[in-house]
Amino acid sequence: MKVLITGGAGFIGSHLAERLLARGDEVLCVDNYETGRRDNLKPQPRLTVVEGNIVDVRLMESIFDSFRPDVVVHAAASYKSPDDFVRDAQTNVVGTAVTVKQSQRLKVRRLIYFQTALCYGDPIEQPITLNHPFHPAKSSYAISKTAAEYYVRLSGLNHVTFRLANAYGPRNLSGPLPTFYSRLTAGKSVFVTDTRRDFIYVMDLVDIVEKAIDGQGATGAYHISSGTDQSIQELFECAIRELGMKLDKPVEVRPRAPDDVFTILLDPSKTKQDFGIIPSTPLSAGVPKAIAYYRQYGISETYTHLRRTENK
Ligand SMILES: NC(=O)c1ccc[n+]([C@@H]2O[C@H](COP(=O)([O-])OP(=O)(O)OC[C@H]3O[C@@H](n4cnc5c(N)ncnc54)[C@H](O)[C@@H]3O)[C@@H](O)[C@H]2O)c1
Repeated sequence: MKVLITGGAGFIGSHLAERLLARGDEVLCVDNYETGRRDNLKPQPRLTVVEGNIVDVRLMESIFDSFRPDVVVHAAASYKSPDDFVRDAQTNVVGTAVTVKQSQRLKVRRLIYFQTALCYGDPIEQPITLNHPFHPAKSSYAISKTAAEYYVRLSGLNHVTFRLANAYGPRNLSGPLPTFYSRLTAGKSVFVTDTRRDFIYVMDLVDIVEKAIDGQGATGAYHISSGTDQSIQELFECAIRELGMKLDKPVEVRPRAPDDVFTILLDPSKTKQDFGIIPSTPLSAGVPKAIAYYRQYGISETYTHLRRTENK
């Protein structure tokens, strides 16, 4: 199979690329390295990497024409500055529109899209069901990712939109874990917010996406979620244990930022029903793998779509 992955040098895209290459698929990744890393994709047979911007219609036309993908996995996204509305709109809205139009033109078998759980805003139910209304208004990232989901739907393409809980694992540079690692190993102060998240190990996510690439599941939206949430403090404690550290006083717990939500717990029942699996790797197994990656490759930068709360 030929699979085109936008954002293929990123965290999720690169793990997926490796999975597909290992089973003999042909993969083309297009990435502008905005938040992706060059060392995420090692050169290998059947892998083509194109450095470029998905907003560039000519480039995307030529990529689609020369590669002729069977399936497109659209993982490129912009989120690294909460105030950069223009970049978010360009990559997430226009870039998705370009990807969708090219997928229509080449009549791809399926387009796979990743949506943020922030599309639900402050949830009115827990767990959040798939027909919970969209309320992305608090975040530029969520607004633009939600507009993009509408374009994916409007296209009439056979598509699967995966709305994701918080993915973590090797190569993950956004969210709390890489921040804990960089600050703790640099001897800097750390705090945790009084929030809870459903943490999903990236390989569990890749297992489900691989099935969707192979045609499993129906057109529409699915949650990728373990169905349980854990506090950020639990994640922190797991990181401390793995780093072999002992703190002389308990970690400071701070109230969440105004654009943050207390918990995001997605209902994974439709995913369980149609794909037969949901993420189940416990933090005690996934965090050591993420930390082993940070130790080996280092972290030069971490990213967040939230307004940063200043550390003391
Ligand atoms: N990681 C999560 O927990 C999570 C949760 C919800 C949704 N998502 C979605 O999953 C997808 C993958 O996210 P990720 O965690 O791997 O993030 P990531 O930042 O590691 O990957 C995104 C990739 O897109 C690339 N990119 C950005 N703008 C681009 C552009 N204009 N042209 C080409 N490439 C561009 C980046 O360089 C990066 O490699 C994204 O669509 C994201 O919105 C992720």
